[in-house]
Amino acid sequence: MAFLADSLARIKPSATIAVTNKARELKAAGRDVIGLGAGEPDFDTPENIKEAAIQAIREGKTKYTAVDGIPELKAAIAAKFKRENNLTYAPNQITVGTGGKQVLYNALMATLNPGDEVIIPAPYWVSYPEMVALGGGTPVEIVGPQSQGFKIGPEALEAAITPKTKWLLLNSPSNPSGAGYTRAELRALADVLLKHPHVWIMTDDMYEHLVFDDFEFATIAEVEPKLYDRTLTVNGVSKAYAMTGWRIGYAGGPVELIKAMGTIQSQSTSNPSSISQWAAVEALNGTQDYIPKNAEIFKKRRDLVVSMLNQAKGIVCPNPEGAFYVFPSCAGTLGKTTAGGKLLKTDEDFVTALLEEEGVAVVQGSAFGLAPYFRISYATSTEALEEACKRIQRFCGNLR
Ligand SMILES: Cc1ncc(COP(=O)(O)O)c(C=O)c1O
Repeated sequence: MAFLADSLARIKPSATIAVTNKARELKAAGRDVIGLGAGEPDFDTPENIKEAAIQAIREGKTKYTAVDGIPELKAAIAAKFKRENNLTYAPNQITVGTGGKQVLYNALMATLNPGDEVIIPAPYWVSYPEMVALGGGTPVEIVGPQSQGFKIGPEALEAAITPKTKWLLLNSPSNPSGAGYTRAELRALADVLLKHPHVWIMTDDMYEHLVFDDFEFATIAEVEPKLYDRTLTVNGVSKAYAMTGWRIGYAGGPVELIKAMGTIQSQSTSNPSSISQWAAVEALNGTQDYIPKNAEIFKKRRDLVVSMLNQAKGIVCPNPEGAFYVFPSCAGTLGKTTAGGKLLKTDEDFVTALLEEEGVAVVQGSAFGLAPYFRISYATSTEALEEACKRIQRFCGNLR
């Protein structure tokens, strides 16, 4: 449509939201569908956080606030960065947005000029390349192969850096692979980055608290303090505190960048919801007891899903370090025909047939920049996961 902006032609709508919608439609039409597409915890927001929000409403904390966050929330975020990441950020180095998504978006809008390159390790969160393109930049994808646990190494990073590189976008633990970079792996990437002072690092630590076994979360500005001055450390309350609908994300970084991000936000959405901000203060300052409990529940589900998927014919499912996703390969199913008569040529064929024939909604790996894989979000009940995995086993067992 000629009326629409040219920039729209550069981006595509979110594939994960598309799958969730398709599954919802099928359900509404009476089909028995198990949705494993959505990226949000199935837990309810903890009571203390809800209470803080209710109290904020009662106390009339319902007006506009400072654009990039109330002082109380900035203080809670500074304390969090100090406590959990050993990073010191002053209030003017902290910004709060409507979800981590807006914070990432603000940072890209505030920094990208046409032709600027942003290195994005694949598989990646669907929004990264689209946001970069929307900002007029050029996404440069480099693959973290399955053989390396879906992580990039220093050689691949070094090879991707050009004079036009503006950012490296790191996400650990990763959506969609669940891969987490160890301190040593971050160290190796940091050594490359130290040689290229024009490259900034945007690290998306949204899944920090969802790590399993003895994996220890680390973030790059902590691993290499010399990178602190050109790192934006992004985080949020959505995943750790089951607060996806409240829409609060935040970042710590250099003063000038933080200020520029606030300028973008001041002319678009202004402050995030005042009530959500007060809820986030309680999330960060209140009890953290449920975080390890939730991680333990997710770990049990991960173990279940990995084990059951590896028993499905043609599927290979690596064991990820964190988040609530697995990213199995469906290479062994391609070239085969389903019970319903569909020839599987791509991972998209695989997920489409799986939804149509067995009512299990997952997302194709190609949407995350790596095929042939698919992503399962296991942030759903154990019963639903068991049933879904049984259906996947049956679907794969019936391939000819
Ligand atoms: C890797 C990653 N980053 C950022 C976000 C954004 O989270 P929110 O905007 O809810 O804070 C998500 C949500 O799915 C994500 O998976």
